[in-house]
Amino acid sequence: MTELSKTGAAVGEPTPSSPSDAFLEVRDLKVHFPTDDGIVKSVDGLSFSLEKGKTLSIVGESGSGKSVTSLAIMGLHRLGARGKNVRMSGEIWLGGKELVSASPDEVRRLRGREMAMIFQDPLSAMHPYYKIGDQIVEAYRVHNNVSKKVARTRAIEMLDRVGIPEPAKRIDGYPHEFSGGMRQRAMIAMALVNNPELLIADEPTTALDVTVQAQILDLIRDLQKEFGSAVVLITHDLGVVAEIADDVLVMYGGRCVERGPVDEIFEKPQHPYTWGLLGSMPRIDRETSDRLIPVKGQPPSLINVPSGCAFHPRCPYADLPKGNVTRTVRPELQQVDGGHWSACHLSAEDRTRIWTEEIAPKL
Ligand SMILES: Nc1ncnc2c1ncn2[C@@H]1O[C@H](COP(=O)(O)OP(=O)(O)OP(=O)(O)O)[C@@H](O)[C@H]1O
Ligand code: SF4
Ligand SMILES: [Mg+2]
Repeated sequence: MTELSKTGAAVGEPTPSSPSDAFLEVRDLKVHFPTDDGIVKSVDGLSFSLEKGKTLSIVGESGSGKSVTSLAIMGLHRLGARGKNVRMSGEIWLGGKELVSASPDEVRRLRGREMAMIFQDPLSAMHPYYKIGDQIVEAYRVHNNVSKKVARTRAIEMLDRVGIPEPAKRIDGYPHEFSGGMRQRAMIAMALVNNPELLIADEPTTALDVTVQAQILDLIRDLQKEFGSAVVLITHDLGVVAEIADDVLVMYGGRCVERGPVDEIFEKPQHPYTWGLLGSMPRIDRETSDRLIPVKGQPPSLINVPSGCAFHPRCPYADLPKGNVTRTVRPELQQVDGGHWSACHLSAEDRTRIWTEEIAPKL
């Protein structure tokens, strides 16, 4: 049940009106890594939900917890030496199954079939010494009881589907024989071979040139339409967000500071950090890069997170809310309207005035 603030606005994390609306629902997710220097709170109380057929874009500076969130959903953070001490709490519901409390075997069974991930670097998902086709065949056969021949036909079909020319020939190539863009396509083919209902794409196009970027994004969009999957897209490019996302989640220091439908986030963003991001991030759809204004200051320490609002040391408006509230009280997400939520102590009047009079004219 959502409590009501003094202003009557709902307070708390956004949750879907009924669990059946969402295919993916993350509730109060925390992913902490104990280290020699202290506990790194990479994700610290994150909640969001996503329906099938919709795309949620996660944006935020380097180190804000975007990849850790995706790896946690996929159950991949537990792999590798750095992840062995991970502490995770909260809930991740995928199609009615809860993943945080699930066994590694249960999560492994879902990975590939119900959820798949594509990365910035395809070589992190593909083995360099095995033929591309064999890797796709293997990914298919893990979840389908079919002969190698049937799986090979399926692999050729997928390579064709992602736009790899002469797929019957290229299927026997090795990853290093593919160009960056073609490798990215092959990885997408591998990720989608089992028609996953959730696809997480973590900066899938960052390493590619602009033309190939656009092709890959079109591909993800087409495949999403065809399969009706839910997509989480992590990107530094707000032009991509504007083009592809239905909803946007802005992360800062392991938490969500603003979330809402893409139009609202671009047309009336309600958080000073989002204002900063809008001025500082590149856009594929704009030519000039001289308008980029970096957000001043350093990203917060995730070991000693600033008190109150974690953004306060960098926020030009930190002194505006009355008292010392921004430095002492952590702002919770408050509903702006509909699916739009923001975590900031500024009054609605101040936010509207600053955005319309000071920020928007400069962007
Ligand atoms: N295994 C680990 N042990 C300790 N700290 C970790 C571990 N994995 C990630 N971190 C830390 O968690 C924070 C969030 O990392 P994450 O990779 O999610 O950032 P990101 O938002 O994806 O950044 P980028 O945009 O650069 O990809 C970083 O400070 C990172 O150093
Ligand atoms: S709560 Fe205060 S410091 Fe944080 S973003 Fe809002 S105005 Fe800035
Ligand atoms: Mg990352």
